[in-house]
Amino acid sequence: MCGIVGYVGQRSCTDVLMDGLSRLEYRGYDSAGIAVFENGIIKVAKSKGRLKDLADKMDREGRLEGHAGIGHTRWATHGEPSDRNSHPHGGGSVTIVHNGIIENYKRLKDFLLSKGRTFESDTDTEVVAQLLDYYYQATPGDPVKAIIKTMKELEGSYALGVVFADFPDTVFALRKESPLIVGLGEGESFIASDVTAILQYTRDYYLLEPNEIAVLSKDGAKVYDLHYQEIKKERKTADWDVSAAEKGGYPHFMIKEIHEQPVAVKTTIAPRITDGMPDLSECGITPERLREFHAINVVACGTAMHAGMVGKYVIEKLAKVPVNVDIASEFRYREPLVGEGDLVIIISQSGETADSLAAMRLAKELGAKTLAIVNAKGSSIAREADMLIYTHAGPEIAVASTKAYMVQIAVMYLFAFELALAKGVIDEAECRRLTALLQETPAQIEQVLADKELTQKIAAELITADSLLYIGRGLDYALSMEGSLKLKEISYIHSESYAAGELKHGTISLITENMPVIAVATQKRLYEKTISNVKEVKARGAKVVLICREGCCPDQDVADHVFQIPNFDDLLMPMIAVVPLQLIAYYTAVLKGTDVDKPRNLAKSVTVE
Ligand code: AGP
Repeated sequence: MCGIVGYVGQRSCTDVLMDGLSRLEYRGYDSAGIAVFENGIIKVAKSKGRLKDLADKMDREGRLEGHAGIGHTRWATHGEPSDRNSHPHGGGSVTIVHNGIIENYKRLKDFLLSKGRTFESDTDTEVVAQLLDYYYQATPGDPVKAIIKTMKELEGSYALGVVFADFPDTVFALRKESPLIVGLGEGESFIASDVTAILQYTRDYYLLEPNEIAVLSKDGAKVYDLHYQEIKKERKTADWDVSAAEKGGYPHFMIKEIHEQPVAVKTTIAPRITDGMPDLSECGITPERLREFHAINVVACGTAMHAGMVGKYVIEKLAKVPVNVDIASEFRYREPLVGEGDLVIIISQSGETADSLAAMRLAKELGAKTLAIVNAKGSSIAREADMLIYTHAGPEIAVASTKAYMVQIAVMYLFAFELALAKGVIDEAECRRLTALLQETPAQIEQVLADKELTQKIAAELITADSLLYIGRGLDYALSMEGSLKLKEISYIHSESYAAGELKHGTISLITENMPVIAVATQKRLYEKTISNVKEVKARGAKVVLICREGCCPDQDVADHVFQIPNFDDLLMPMIAVVPLQLIAYYTAVLKGTDVDKPRNLAKSVTVE
């Protein structure tokens, strides 16, 4: 996720861009840059690091002065955070800033290379800049025509701010999936990824829809479709305060981030799939290397550790390699038996969790190879690991992790598919089938997100409980751990997760009518077994919420609420079934009136032991 701002008018463009970017820094902050028309010529200033680093650079090297331009704050997807990979990127007469991901950039880059074009960065964005210029050279004088031709070639999600050297008083914008608004002021126009960036100048804006192109001048904005027909847009007026706007209109970052999950999954997996097959070679993971490992340890904390639990079930089932999951603070002090020939996977959103970092250093000392699955670019765990897979969830602001968990498990699936293939346990056809299923999960997640009424109703009944139990078997057990943690950390209601088959060995004595039970039963093979356990708790008075697949028809009196999720492949069910668990936790916390995004006693990144 990145932030885009653009301006054309009478004010100092640099002031407007830098101010707007500061309000979008939550969208990404590993590098920043601006392009401004100075005396009719495009000048660029960009820097790795925070916006402050860009401001310092301009203080040292000279500030750009002009009245039209574009700006960007970045959360790296293609290419490490560096000055070279920072936006804006240029291609001949075109300079652009980009939010999103171009899935077919490799093919487009090959095409442009064959036309003699050269590239300065590792980004997918530069490919778009070059393609725009390529088409513009074919129809000089008509940027919109070049934009339309380019959009027809691009696959993926994107929002772009564009300037053409031949049009010094004009800013162009276009989008598909990634958000972009066009701000309308008196004698000035803006673009922004989020209305927050321009609220202090104007509250009037157009919402740019997918496949629309905006042409901005100081006198206003015109919007075109892909047939070059002008579209009459409805002018909207923002009535949010600035902090609400940063949340894109959602009341909390947590619910916004829950909604970002389908895009986060696409953005994370798309660059790691080539011709329908998992391809982690860019992350240093090759079939030859994978064949060297005899055992795997996953080490992490909290939610990231729960993602590791899902990984354990999936890797063992598919690749037949033993996987041990450890809490990092335990691993580092228990003299673990790992060494040469072992792989230790460290999962972390922040990449700075003290115990996970220490565990990784220990694993390296012991001779194991380490693979980090990390969201924050350039973080300590990312820098020190032998191999690295970045998740592309974008910045996660809410302390309760949701979208980071989702992409962590998405990566675990890709890894398991590639490992199983490398070990010869599955063949290419099966690997292709599984990869295609993974690509379908964003649509399934969308479907669950479309109707929240039942989760709200369930939450309303949970707020009076003092304690809850989450139960499941196999992958559903791994998932109930995450459901339970989510609920307790933000609603402050005590809860435990239990392997459903283990209840009878002690814990069932806790069951009364005051102990609600959330049962997860999405696995076909284990469904009847879990339902038997559900009947046992129901018979002892528990209120039961059952999460199962569509088409399952439990007896009417088995559960008080049945939440049915789309009928999908057993193995991939956690990616879909986690959504109602997140929503139940969220709405329970909202109804209890807790500080959802910043729950008491917790920090987003735990950098101390
Ligand atoms: C989950 O909602 C948490 N807030 C917490 O458990 C978190 O997952 C854990 O602290 C690990 O953080 P990391 O992913 O940044 O390493």
